[in-house]
Amino acid sequence: MRDGAPRTTIRPAGAVLAILVLAGTACARPGTIRHTGAARPPATSTSTTRPPKPSTTIPGDASPGSAGLGDTLLPASGNGGYDVSQYDLAFAVDDTSGPITATATITATASQALSSFHLDFRGYEITAATVDGAAAATERDGDELIVTPATAIASGATFTTAVSYSGEPPLVKDASAPGDIGWLDADSGRFAAAEPNGAKGIFPCNDHPSDKALFTFSITAPATMTAAANGVLVGQEPDGASMRWRFEQAQPMATYLVQLAVGDYDVIDGGTVDDVTIRHVVVRNLDEAARQRLDITNDQLAFFEQLFGNYPFATYGLLIADAPPSFALETQTLTLMPASWLADDPAFFDIVAAHELAHSWFGDAVSPQRWSDIWLNEGFATYAEWMWTDHAGYETLDHLAQEAHAQAPEWRDEFGKVADPAATNLFGPNEYDGAALVLHALRLTIGDEAFFAVLRQWFERYNGQSVTTDQFEALAAEVSKTDLSGFFAAWVHSTIVPPLPG
Ligand code: TRP
Ligand code: ZN
Repeated sequence: MRDGAPRTTIRPAGAVLAILVLAGTACARPGTIRHTGAARPPATSTSTTRPPKPSTTIPGDASPGSAGLGDTLLPASGNGGYDVSQYDLAFAVDDTSGPITATATITATASQALSSFHLDFRGYEITAATVDGAAAATERDGDELIVTPATAIASGATFTTAVSYSGEPPLVKDASAPGDIGWLDADSGRFAAAEPNGAKGIFPCNDHPSDKALFTFSITAPATMTAAANGVLVGQEPDGASMRWRFEQAQPMATYLVQLAVGDYDVIDGGTVDDVTIRHVVVRNLDEAARQRLDITNDQLAFFEQLFGNYPFATYGLLIADAPPSFALETQTLTLMPASWLADDPAFFDIVAAHELAHSWFGDAVSPQRWSDIWLNEGFATYAEWMWTDHAGYETLDHLAQEAHAQAPEWRDEFGKVADPAATNLFGPNEYDGAALVLHALRLTIGDEAFFAVLRQWFERYNGQSVTTDQFEALAAEVSKTDLSGFFAAWVHSTIVPPLPG
């Protein structure tokens, strides 16, 4: 967040994803179905590295960790006083909807002496909680779960919290989200869609992208169902009439990118691109023609690797779920896409699939440090989407940029500066095409060679981390050997849209 208070323009939830629809409308071949947007919207044993905790070593200066991280747009998201390194999540599911039981084991390092700390968590009934194996007290305060360990945690100590819980996954409703988020269900199965703050409806967490962590998942479900989650399938073990599926996400991931699909899904082997295993997970009733269209993923991945560098994870695929129209989300290694798009509008599906895949580099591998930095996600994915749209012959990049430039003054009027969105406009057009336009202007300013060097360096240097707008500005200036302070002041910190360079 740079300067000024967030604007308070209210956009109706559900209209926020209209930008993807806009992109589709602009790009789709004549005659394809138009979407109007109406419906849119490591080891956990740490005792060896931790000092013993007899009463003599209890820190006298321990205090409660804070309830938030000071994010200007989502102040309740995330929690102070610790940094999570790993989530080990185990779920048991009986059906495509209804209650679940789960245990979340969270390994974290204290950044202060903690007498208690918060997790973000909504819904469910908590059945047990421990810190380093000792029973801990828990208390709920809205969507905050306050954990008080039996003994205080020393600053710098690594500690393990286990929370067991059960119940029906709650919907998370937030003005910043394009619709209900969390662990959602349809007749054909469950899927997760948690951006920006819906992970707290799935597991207790430090629900903020500045605290990325490694993940393992264990999902026990009836053997008739299929389960999938982020990362690589590392085990599939029958257990009576059930199957236990285990997944591992071995690169850091933000909580909002969690995916957990359980239900009537088929797995489609899409081969490999370089060393990346392509593996799609699709609703069982998807027809053969639609399944064939998933092959476009391989071309897209090869295309983006050339532009941005090697794909950052071991596997990729599309989760084709009965999600609401417009619910496309870049859940790390397994992008959520609605089955209806794949069935009804292949061109639009193709373009949005490119956008979501590009988030693997920009958003997933390199994540925003604060929600006000969202243009670093959506602007970059949209610019990548434009490049694919051009490459695939739907529409030229130049035309898309001209169109965005024509509309940008309205967007800046309504939504303000690109790098200063309101919580209600996180996923509005200023952050999508309005921010892609900034990248196009940068490209015209520093030239193709420097521009692509900037994109590649951005990814390479910050892969696995969380970043700020300031860091991007500094890197762009460094790599292009150009003073870009005037450029960024005009393009991302102003409401006046400059003419396109050149
Ligand atoms: N990041 C998504 C995209 O660009 C948009 C999005 C944000 C979303 N929050 C969501 C989609 C929640 C589905 C559900 O494509
Ligand atoms: Zn996006």
